[in-house]
Amino acid sequence: MTNGKHATADSAAQPSPDTVMRLINGYWATGILAASATHSLFTHLENGAGTAAELADRATISERGAQTLLDGLVSVGLVELSGGRYRNTAEASAYLVEGKPASLSSFAKLKLTHMGSLADLAEVVRVGGPVAKSVVEVANNPHWEGIVTAIAAQSMPAATIAAEVLGLAEAGEISILDVGGGSGIYSGIWLEANPEARATQLDWEPINAIARRLLTERGVADRFTTVDGDFHSTDFGTAAFDVAVYSHIAHQEGPESNVEVFTRLRQALKPGGTLVVNDYVVDDDRSGPAFPLIFAAEMLLKSKQGSTWRRSDYQEWLVKAGFSSVAFHSAPPGTLVIARP
Ligand SMILES: C[S@@+](CC[C@H](N)C(=O)[O-])C[C@H]1O[C@@H](n2cnc3c(N)ncnc32)[C@H](O)[C@@H]1O
Repeated sequence: MTNGKHATADSAAQPSPDTVMRLINGYWATGILAASATHSLFTHLENGAGTAAELADRATISERGAQTLLDGLVSVGLVELSGGRYRNTAEASAYLVEGKPASLSSFAKLKLTHMGSLADLAEVVRVGGPVAKSVVEVANNPHWEGIVTAIAAQSMPAATIAAEVLGLAEAGEISILDVGGGSGIYSGIWLEANPEARATQLDWEPINAIARRLLTERGVADRFTTVDGDFHSTDFGTAAFDVAVYSHIAHQEGPESNVEVFTRLRQALKPGGTLVVNDYVVDDDRSGPAFPLIFAAEMLLKSKQGSTWRRSDYQEWLVKAGFSSVAFHSAPPGTLVIARP
């Protein structure tokens, strides 16, 4: 891709159409990434395959298909070509090789299945909310089953950063509440870090079953309890927890609901407890960051009230809910909001 300028004799200052062409055809990138992930191309490249023929052989796909994916991956900047051999860029190596803890490989496959809903976006924008069946407000929606394991890789660094910021490994016998905990990734990482900690996850029943299975695999299920139900109507208790987590949930809720949940979470915390919110947080002037800005479209399509909220929204809601200290920590692509009563 160029720097956007394409000077010719008759159009000296005419910008190049490259960026607009690339964005109009942005779905090719989603397709190429998903197909490459489906055939484990990044993993084979990491393990030394370096040509279309070698990849075709290891992935049992056609050589023509392998070459097409490689061309596409060079185009989007995830694979480099040197001396006739291909290799992963540092980003592809960190985030697209299967089996690595931060691997987004299954997320890449999942997003291809979400693409059809974008055809509704123009109408969704006109009416201001979902036109197909809404996703986030429906109890036990199977939508979550694919999401929670695929986004665990994004929550893993956030959970690790939060553990460091809060000193959880050395915190002794603490109790943790994870509201909408999904795959149980926070509980898994925190219970591994602190052998005296115990965690409770509130989520829909089929999702809790996934979390229990994953925490059994991690060997910490004996200190992990699940509560099945809707977090809007399930009691969180009073002065019962040292740490509460609300990760990737605030964006599906409207302002009133977030204040209401934060208020009950403050009540559920013991004196001196901490609430950890993780989400895609937008700068107050809405100038960035890029991913939280564009993710608002996902919430317009899929939720009645959700959006990506600004730092000042979190600050205001948490103070309304009775928290007196609110701090922000970067955890790309999200932000950790750490609140104390
Ligand atoms: C985007 S996932 C986030 C999972 C996890 N907290 C993370 O950050 O990796 C949202 C989670 O909230 C759960 N959830 C959404 N609405 C809920 C509700 N009303 N009651 C209980 N759980 C809910 C979903 O089942 C899903 O596990």
